[in-house]
Parts: sequence; structure tokens; C-alpha cells
Amino acid sequence: MDQGQTPLLATLVEHNQGCPLPFHVPGHKGGRMVRDDLLDLWGPSVFTYDVTEVGNFDDLHAPDGAIARAQELAAQAVGAAHTFFLTAGSTAGLLAALLAVSAPGDKVLVPRNAHRSVLAGMVLSGAQPVFIWPPLDCDMDVAGPLALETVEHALSRHPDARVMVLMHPTYFGCVGETQAIIALAKERGMCVVVDEAHGAHFPFSSHFPASSLTMGADVVVQSWHKTLGALTGGAMLHCTGRGKEMLGRIRAFLRMVHTSSPSYLTLVSLDVARSHAATAPQSRWRRVKEYYGQLRDILDGVTGVSVYPGVISAQDPIKLVVKTNDFSARALARELAKAHSIHPELATEDVCLLVLGAGDKDLLSASELGRSIHEAARQARRDNKRKGRFDASWLWERPSAVMKPRDAALSPSEWVPLSEASGRICAELVAMYPPGSAVLCPGEVLDVKTADVIGNMLAENYRFHGVGPPPEYRIAVVSKDRT
Ligand SMILES: Cc1ncc(COP(=O)(O)O)c(C=O)c1O
Repeated sequence: MDQGQTPLLATLVEHNQGCPLPFHVPGHKGGRMVRDDLLDLWGPSVFTYDVTEVGNFDDLHAPDGAIARAQELAAQAVGAAHTFFLTAGSTAGLLAALLAVSAPGDKVLVPRNAHRSVLAGMVLSGAQPVFIWPPLDCDMDVAGPLALETVEHALSRHPDARVMVLMHPTYFGCVGETQAIIALAKERGMCVVVDEAHGAHFPFSSHFPASSLTMGADVVVQSWHKTLGALTGGAMLHCTGRGKEMLGRIRAFLRMVHTSSPSYLTLVSLDVARSHAATAPQSRWRRVKEYYGQLRDILDGVTGVSVYPGVISAQDPIKLVVKTNDFSARALARELAKAHSIHPELATEDVCLLVLGAGDKDLLSASELGRSIHEAARQARRDNKRKGRFDASWLWERPSAVMKPRDAALSPSEWVPLSEASGRICAELVAMYPPGSAVLCPGEVLDVKTADVIGNMLAENYRFHGVGPPPEYRIAVVSKDRT
């Protein structure tokens, strides 16, 4: 197949050449029903290309035309047997994958730092999560990838687990023993689903860590909008190995959880991003790695900061994790934004995460970015921006689970102030956002210390999903008559 082809883009361009009069949805009618200021700002083409499933545009949920061809090209580009395009992010893919591979009561091994969509998938399917706890870097409150030994231990205690979910890489770009863990799961006949949301670029170059698609994973979900050129929400679900046998089930569940009006802007951006990535010279990806390496060297000489992790081979060079030693990394991020217009992806008290990419040298050279980080760090230290005093590592203590996530989430619930919620069973996932990993899952009991840490973090303006507004910060708990 010719990876230079972009069948979805071609169909759209051909359609628009005929100056079509849209007597169909969307209601903006190619921009005719849009306020002038927005039309001026965005230009008319956004609206003329925002079409829907009419004419030759194929149907995402039963494709046999341009979408089918675009998906085949994507599958070939990454080495999958089949690929589904998604316009509702990896979230939709992970929900459908969990529904397809696990039945009510099935044990699913899952890293505790899994994204909330993985846990939501288990609420929907009724599966029983068996959490595997990744190592926590206590200096930074950042969880690393799972260790093989921990997985072996979990499997010896739960030999009846049928499904393994892995995250490759972590939100912070770390990769671990994914290959060996998948091999172990396969030996046991388990189905392996990999959340590769942050690794869509992995299949395209050896300058990046290997994709789990090459390691025997069955279902792999990637957010192409995170590290490649797709519009926000553009993602793909790939099936290989045993995933091929589940195509029908996955398709059926995608029809349930995914919109029936997919954005063609996003679909076309996936088609073009695939062609762009698959035909790129290796020099494009090599430059990302070089840029990352240059930044590491520059930041080595900056007082008060270091780059995490120490071992480069375990790190995706698209994620630059800057650790601050004696001042708040949130102050560094604020200073970068205020004085340098540089907006990082995330900052906690200890780390500031910057997402790099193939076009970065056009944004800023590595030496300019390094200099800005240097100046921002010096300013934050001069302002004596100390780290917050709470110990977030407590959020990694193992809460006791007394109900299955599905049972707790579907039980009658009430919203109670955080200060009164200790001892109650959570009915909704509580997750710090970003990155979206669970602090408490439905069915787990909130204890006094955890409520205290969450309260302190909220006071420091950390954002949580599953917690109401101040001053009470109510959380959903299972009603007492149900416990
Ligand atoms: C590890 C991980 N998995 C899945 C998702 C969900 O991806 P999306 O935003 O494409 O729905 C995210 C989002 O941040 C994530 O960090």
C-alpha cells in the first residue's frame, strides 16, 4: 500500500470541489450559520470540511469506503491486523476494549496508575480490578512503569486473572519491562490490552521505545492527538494477535460508547497524520532525540534542577521531565508561562513536564528553551518559592476495597463534604487531573489521612475529578442504607 495516499482527505477535497449545497447536518451549513467573528477567526474552510456521513463519506461504524481504506493504511503503517479510528480519544477505545475483553466478575490485572478511562471500562464491564502497584519515586511522587517481579507476584496470587492491562509508556514517558510482562501474560493465556495513549509515535522510529504492537499485545490504543499531528480527540485502536478474534465485539462496543457523529475534521487529521508519520524520513525523529539530548546536557548545568529519569534508555525523548530540587516546580511552570510564554503540560511540587515534538526546533531552539528554563528556575528560586508541605505519596497507600467498582458506582449515592466522608465508600472515581490516575476507585473506603491529603492539595489548587466545588469539596459516597 502506498502510505503517501490519504483517501479520506481525497474524498473530502473532491466533494468540496463540486461546491455542494448542504441540505443535511451539521446545522452550521458549511459556515453559513456561524457568527462573523468566529468565521473571520477560523476561516470558512473549517466549516466546509466539517461534514458528516453523507454521500461518499463512508460510515465510521460500518465502513466500506474511504474510512475503511484509511484504516487499512493505518493498520499497515503500525503493523496491526486491524485499526479502528476514534474521534473521542483513547478514552472511547479503552472503554470498548475493556467491555470486549472482560465479563462481569473477571479479574483484570491493572496498574494502579492506569488512566481513569481504564477504570471506567471496568465499571461498565463489571470486571474486578486487581491492582498492581508500580514503584513510586518518593522524591517526586511519580509512579514508574510496572516491574516484572511485581507482576509475577500478582499472578501467583491471582492465577485465575484473564486479562492484563498495561500502560506503555507512563504519562511521564517511562517504559519498563513491557515486553517481558506481555510474554509472561501470554504464557498464561491472558489477553493483553495496552494503553499506549502516549506512544502513538513509537511504531515509526527506533529513536523511540518500541511499540507494544511488536511485543505480542492483543489490543493497543493510541492517542494520535497527544504526540502526533491529529486534532484533539483523534485516536486509534489497533488489534493484533488474539485481538483479531475480538474485532466483532470491539466494533459492537465502539458503536455503544463512541459518538455516531464523528468529526470528519478529526478523521481526516488522523488519515493525514498517519501518512505524514509513515513517510517521514528518520532524520525527523532523530532530531527529536537530539533536541531532548541537548536539553538534558544544558539542564545538567543548571542549579536546582535535574532531568528525570537518570537512565535515558528507559525514557521517551518526547517527554522532558524537569525535577526541581529545592523550590516548587509549579513556580517554575508559572514563571515559564509568565515571562517566556512557554506553557508546560503539567507541574506538581516536584516536576514540570514538557511535551516535545518533531516541530520544536521551529518553535524554539534547544539552547533557547534551555536558557528559558534556566532563567525561570533562577527567578523561582530567587522568589523563594518553596514546595508545598503535604506528602502526596500518601495517595499511593493501598485503600481497602469493600465493593466491586461497578456495584459501588451503580448504587444509590449521596454527596457529602470531604471533611465528613472518612469511613464512607466512594461511589465515583476520584482522580487528580492531569494525569487522571485514580486516587480512590468506586468501592474503596476513604480514610482520614487520605481525605486530609486531598484537602491540602485542593487548597493548593490541584485539580481533582470526582470532587465538588469549594468550600465543602463534596464527594460521592454510597448511601448508608446500601452498605
Ligand atoms: C495514560 C492515558 N491513557 C488514556 C488517556 C485518555 O486519552 P484521550 O485523551 O485520548 O481520551 C490519557 C489521557 O490523558 C492518558 O494519559
